[in-house]
Amino acid sequence: MDILCDIVQALFALAALGFIVVLLVAHLTAEMVNLTRHEDEKYFITATGERKPFPSLHDPFSRELTVVVPAYNEELRMPVMLDEAMQYLENRQKQNSSFTYEVIVVDDGSKDKTTEVALQYTNKYSADKVRVLTLVENRGKGGAVRMGTLSSRGKLILMADADGATKFADIEKVEAGLKEVNAGPENLAISCGSRAHLEKDSVAQRSVFRTFLMYGFHFLVWFFCVRGIKDTQCGFKLFTREAALKTFSSLHVERWAFDVELLYIAQCFKIPIAEVAVNWTEIEGSKLVPFWSWLQMGRDLIFIRLRYITGAWKLQSPHKTD
Ligand SMILES: *[C@@H]1O[C@H](CO)[C@@H](O)[C@H](O)[C@H]1NC(C)=O
Ligand SMILES: *[C@@H]1O[C@H](CO)[C@@H](O)[C@H](O)[C@H]1NC(C)=O
Repeated sequence: MDILCDIVQALFALAALGFIVVLLVAHLTAEMVNLTRHEDEKYFITATGERKPFPSLHDPFSRELTVVVPAYNEELRMPVMLDEAMQYLENRQKQNSSFTYEVIVVDDGSKDKTTEVALQYTNKYSADKVRVLTLVENRGKGGAVRMGTLSSRGKLILMADADGATKFADIEKVEAGLKEVNAGPENLAISCGSRAHLEKDSVAQRSVFRTFLMYGFHFLVWFFCVRGIKDTQCGFKLFTREAALKTFSSLHVERWAFDVELLYIAQCFKIPIAEVAVNWTEIEGSKLVPFWSWLQMGRDLIFIRLRYITGAWKLQSPHKTD
């Protein structure tokens, strides 16, 4: 019995030690909020080839909607998405001339012709409607979305994936979701597209192993970071300008897990979040998440919470930088 007792004690000590080591690693490897822009990232190109500076999210809004499209090596899929989006947006403006909008394509350091393809839309629709922000180096989707958001003029800001997996007209569903939550006097609200209603179908099509990873991921999100939102990863999210400023100013994670940190921050600030079912098509060439990335994502998720606990990361109040 004594031996058993010793073993249990030793295991507890080991677990405690392990936890402290993990906390230390999380604390010491924490990167800071990175809002700095390369000089070239401060400008967009107009249809006549002029270089003009992007405005700031700190300025008052001057358009009804900004659509931020992060794009990494998307020269092939993006035209389909942009055609659909532009058709919808132009049509809506034709029916209601007070509906003003802009699309900001953020080329996340692509190696292909993503920027050139996007600039064709600037030429076709003008730089008032389509702007291209080309990042000098790949930052990751979260970093790209943030850079685009910080350059937005919209009263509302939508992030939408370049692969066009969500039907663009579903923006009306997330808009309705945003209207339903109480944004309060500060006008803080977020509305997330959700694929949770499709999960049963996708489980049927996926391997047992991938399904297991998916549930593992959901569990980690729920346990460490965000409760009450079934699909944190959908790339279709709508923010009020105020909510975008407040959440993106504190965002540290620039890669896969950025959605989770963003929603974690929103919940810390008590920003109301709507979750709205949207339609979703698996697009050919969708990037299957490799196993290694799942591990990284799991670690990032756990580290998000631990870094806030140890104080390595703090919620920031929005401040201007360049
Ligand atoms: C026209 O668009 C504006 C801005 O989006 C909106 O406030 C207004 O309600 C719209 N009017 C109609 C008739 O839909
Ligand atoms: C998705 O699209 C199908 C067919 O277009 C439609 O029947 C269904 O109601 C849509 N689902 C959602 C959640 O919008």
